[in-house]
Amino acid sequence: MAAPLASVLRLFENGEEIGPGHAMHDGIRTLGGGRYSHWEGALFFSASDSSNPADNGRLYQALLPPPGLMSSLQSLLAANATAALTEVARHTILSAAAGIIDPSFILPDHGRRLEGDAGFRAAFHRFFPDQINTMDRKYAVWQLAKLVRSLQGDMVEIGCYTGATSWFLADQIARGDRERSLHLFDSFEGLSRPGEQDGSYWQTGALRTGEDVVRRNLAEFPFVHLYPGWVPDRFGDVADRRFVLVHIDVDLYQPTRDSAAFFYDRLVPGGLMICDDYGFNSCPGATAALDEVMSDKPEPIINLPTGGAFIIKQP
Ligand SMILES: C[S@@+](CC[C@H](N)C(=O)[O-])C[C@H]1O[C@@H](n2cnc3c(N)ncnc32)[C@H](O)[C@@H]1O
Repeated sequence: MAAPLASVLRLFENGEEIGPGHAMHDGIRTLGGGRYSHWEGALFFSASDSSNPADNGRLYQALLPPPGLMSSLQSLLAANATAALTEVARHTILSAAAGIIDPSFILPDHGRRLEGDAGFRAAFHRFFPDQINTMDRKYAVWQLAKLVRSLQGDMVEIGCYTGATSWFLADQIARGDRERSLHLFDSFEGLSRPGEQDGSYWQTGALRTGEDVVRRNLAEFPFVHLYPGWVPDRFGDVADRRFVLVHIDVDLYQPTRDSAAFFYDRLVPGGLMICDDYGFNSCPGATAALDEVMSDKPEPIINLPTGGAFIIKQP
C-alpha cells in the first residue's frame, strides 16, 4: 500500500512460487535462492537452488495482471478515489482483481459483521498490527467458543505462538459465568523438524517466540497456565483434566497427531476440537494427522470456509 506502483509480478519455478521479489540485484547474483526483481521492464531472477536457470531444465513462469487492470487500480489509488466508491463498487473491483490474479481464490462476501466489529479488530491488531491474514480464522474460533459456554471443563491450545487465538479463547472464558482454566502448550522454540508427511513449506524453528511474550499478552487473565516443551512431553501435567474446547495449531504431522489423540480422549460430550491447519496445502501433515486420529471415530470433520476444521464430540 505504501508503494502502489511497485510491481506485483509473481514468479514460479516448475509451478512452485519462488522469491522473495523486490530483491537487491547484488543479492540475486551472489545469494540466489529464488530471489528476483522486476525492474524497469526486465526480470532479474535466480533459481531456488541457485543453479543456472538457463540450463537447469526447469520451467519458469511469471504471473502479471493485465496492464489495463493495474493502471485502473493505480489511478484509483493515486486519486485516493476508493473511499468515494460505494461498498458494492469497491467489492466489485476487488473481485475482478482477485479473479485475475488468482482464479482459484474465493473472495468472501462484503458487509459481514466481522468487518464492522471494531472491538474484535482492535484486539486482533494488538497481536498483528499490519496484517489482516488469519483475522477471519480467529473470528471463527472466537465465535465457536460460545458453543461450549454451558459445559463443565477447561480449554487448551497446543501451539499458542504469541497468544492471539489464546487471547480470544480467554476472552470467552472471562465473558462466561463458569470457572475454567486455559492451558497453553508450546515449545517456545518454534516448529519441530518437519517429517516426510509435512511437505516443504515449513522450516524447523519457524514461528519461534518467547514464553515471556505470551505471559505479557495474556497477563489480564489469571486462569491461563503455560507448559513450555515439545509435544507431547508436558501433556501428563493435564492428564486428569477434562476439556470443553481444544485448539490445535502446530502445523506439522507428529505434534498434531499426538495432540488430537491425547485430547480427543479428554474432550467432554458436546466439546469442540478445532484444528487450525486442517486442509491447507501448506499443512499436508497436520491434515493427514487429524484424518488418521478420527478414522475410527464417529464424529465427522467439519471444514470451515475460513480454513481449518473442527469436530463436536458425541456423547
Ligand atoms: C502457527 S503457530 C501458532 C499460532 C497461534 N495459535 C496463534 O493464534 O497465533 C505454531 C506454534 O506451534 C509451535 N510448535 C510447533 N511444533 C511444535 C512441537 N512439536 N511442540 C511444541 N510446539 C510446537 C510453535 O512454536 C508455534 O508457536
